[in-house]
Amino acid sequence: MDQVYLNGSFLPAQQAQVSVFDRGFLLGDGVYEVIPVYKGKCFQLTGHLERLQASLDGVRMKNPYSNSQWKNLLEELVELNGSGDQALYLQVTRGVAPRDHVFPEGVTPTAFAMSSPLQAVPEKYKTEGAAAITLPDIRWQNCNIKAITLLPNSMLKQQALEAGALEALLIRDGYLTEGAASNAYVVIDGTIYTAPKDEKVLPGITREVVIEIALANNMPLLEEAVTEPQLKQADEIWVSSSTKEVVPITVLDGEPVGDGIPGPVWQRMDALYQQYKQNGAV
Ligand code: PDD
Repeated sequence: MDQVYLNGSFLPAQQAQVSVFDRGFLLGDGVYEVIPVYKGKCFQLTGHLERLQASLDGVRMKNPYSNSQWKNLLEELVELNGSGDQALYLQVTRGVAPRDHVFPEGVTPTAFAMSSPLQAVPEKYKTEGAAAITLPDIRWQNCNIKAITLLPNSMLKQQALEAGALEALLIRDGYLTEGAASNAYVVIDGTIYTAPKDEKVLPGITREVVIEIALANNMPLLEEAVTEPQLKQADEIWVSSSTKEVVPITVLDGEPVGDGIPGPVWQRMDALYQQYKQNGAV
C-alpha cells in the first residue's frame, strides 16, 4: 500500500514530503478520518465526510475539497493500492506558515491520505472478548472534534497496553465517556447504553451503524451516559471503531464483566453488523 495522496498528487510514500513548518507537525493543528474499505468500497463514506466537515468547522479550517472531490480521490487511492480491504487515513492540516499560535492568513491547507491493510478483527476477541481498564478522561473539552492532536489518547492507550488491556475506558465527572480510540456501550438488563453525542465523545461512525441496527431490530438502546458504578456492574461492555468493529469487553480492571464471556446482546449485534457490512451499505 505504497501509494499516498498529497496536495493533489498520488505518489509513492517514500517520495511524499511535507514542510517542517507545517502546522500539523509543529502544533498538531489538523483533523483526520479513518475509513474502512471492504472489497474496494469505502464503508459509510458520507458519514465520514460529514464528520470531517464538522471537525474542520470546529477548528475553523476550510475544507480543501468538495465531498465529490474527496470521494474521487479516495476511490482512486484505494484502486492504486490494489482495492480489497483497506484502512484509509486522511488528514487536513492548516498548512505551512511561520510558527505562531494564532491562525495564519491566506494559507493553503495540507491534504494527505494513505491506506494500510485492514487487519481482520482477531477471532479471539469474538470468542473470548478483550480486556479494558478504567482511567480518568484526561482529554480536552472538544472530544467531538477528530483532531490529530492525540497525545492524551496515545498516553491512555499505552497505559492500557502496559496493563495487558486492549482499551482504556474513560471516566469524566463520574460518568463513562468512551474509549481512548473507540466508543463504548454498556448493557444493563437488556438495554444498550452509550454516551450521548456532545463535546465529551467522538461521534463515531460505527456508533451510528450500531444505533441504526439496534433501532431496526427492536434492541433497546438509550443514548445516555452510565456512571462508573453502573459500568462496573454491567452485564456486557462493548467498544466500537472503524478498524475494530464491535468488540466485547469481558474483563474490566481485572474483574470479569457479567459471565466473563461475550454476551448474548453483543452476539446479536455482531451478527447483524456483519450482515450490514455484507449488504455493502455505503
Ligand atoms: N478512532 N472515539 C475515539 C476517541 C476514536 O479515536 C475513535 C476511532 C472512535 C470511533 O469512531 P469511528 O467509529 O468513527 O471509527 C471513537 C480511529 C479508528 C483512530 O483514531 O484510528
